[in-house]
Amino acid sequence: LLFDPRPKDSREDLYDREREVDALVESGLPLILLLGRRRIGKSSVLRVALREVGGVYLDARLLYAESGGWIPTRLFIEALADALGEARGRLRRGLERAVRHVEGVTVAGIRLNLSREPALRELLGALEAAGATIGVDEAQYLRYSGARGGRELLALFAYIYDNLQGVRLILSGSEVGLLHDFLGLDDYRSPLYGRPYRAVTLAPFTRRQSLEFLERGFAERGLQPPRETLEAAVAELDGVPGWLVDFGLAYLSHGSLDEALREVYSRAEGFVKGELALLERRSPRYAELLKAVAAGYTSWESLRRYMGARGVRSTSTLSRLLRGLEKMGWVEKRLVDGRPRYRVSDPVVERVLRRL
Ligand SMILES: Nc1ncnc2c1ncn2[C@@H]1O[C@H](COP(=O)(O)OP(=O)(O)OP(=O)(O)O)[C@@H](O)[C@H]1O
Ligand SMILES: [Mg+2]
Repeated sequence: LLFDPRPKDSREDLYDREREVDALVESGLPLILLLGRRRIGKSSVLRVALREVGGVYLDARLLYAESGGWIPTRLFIEALADALGEARGRLRRGLERAVRHVEGVTVAGIRLNLSREPALRELLGALEAAGATIGVDEAQYLRYSGARGGRELLALFAYIYDNLQGVRLILSGSEVGLLHDFLGLDDYRSPLYGRPYRAVTLAPFTRRQSLEFLERGFAERGLQPPRETLEAAVAELDGVPGWLVDFGLAYLSHGSLDEALREVYSRAEGFVKGELALLERRSPRYAELLKAVAAGYTSWESLRRYMGARGVRSTSTLSRLLRGLEKMGWVEKRLVDGRPRYRVSDPVVERVLRRL
């Protein structure tokens, strides 16, 4: 069913995204990034692809939450081992043929603490024998791991990349800039430096796709709302499948456009508040600046004045904060007449922020 609030697991339940799933399934490179803003369908696309190729799914955001804000490297390895242990289908059969021993795991330059653990050797051996794909959802959270900002895991990934034939990593991220910073593919100090990778970006549905998505979702429930209702919903929700699903479910229970939209916004408000709390932990200035952008301060000059009046006098601090919001995916920069203009990436989030 399209109007199911959980991430999808199989292609039949997925609207469109054929090309993106194929790209994940078919890419021969050992590293693939799956990028896109919140609620756009990353977890769904990742899970569908993993099911098709025989892969394991890990959620870095969940590991982060469960471990209270810092993921011990061991916990990641254990989660990987658990996920392999629970594997089904093709991957299960591959594992049953798996070798149980891999000689000497060493990673150049960086001490991989866990290399002495037999569990890791077995694990890597099993991964290779089964040709498994490892999917890590919201992988930018792995920077909160180990003793050095996640470098042990990067070293492990580099080891897998270089040495394990047929093993692939798919890393998803909504905080695209942060994911790039963490992986350091262009940073010679990073263990992963210089490795070729494939990036797959999920764009919002087009207006036509969004309408069709809603029509099909309602048809599955035996309903055919007026065309104007669907048009109005799509105009508000901008092609983000997560909001469209919320709308579909709300309309099914209320049967009115206004009530359904109100419910979408009230759910979105809960979501945004949760995200804002995380953002404020990074810096209260971020939240202040984000609200300013949402309120219509969109030029550099107006933001400088606005934040200046609130104690942020240094323009380099302001640039750093804006770059941070861009990297986390909250804000987008466009050039208008050669000058930067900022706006909140997701219009639903923007409207929620205005009302907070
Ligand atoms: N292509 C699609 N077809 C059908 N439903 C979809 C599609 N993409 C996303 N959805 C639905 O939208 C909602 C959000 O999707 P999903 O959780 O996969 O997105 P996400 O990008 O991982 O979001 P988050 O930022 O919350 O982690 C879910 O209800 C999911 O079922
Ligand atoms: Mg997700």
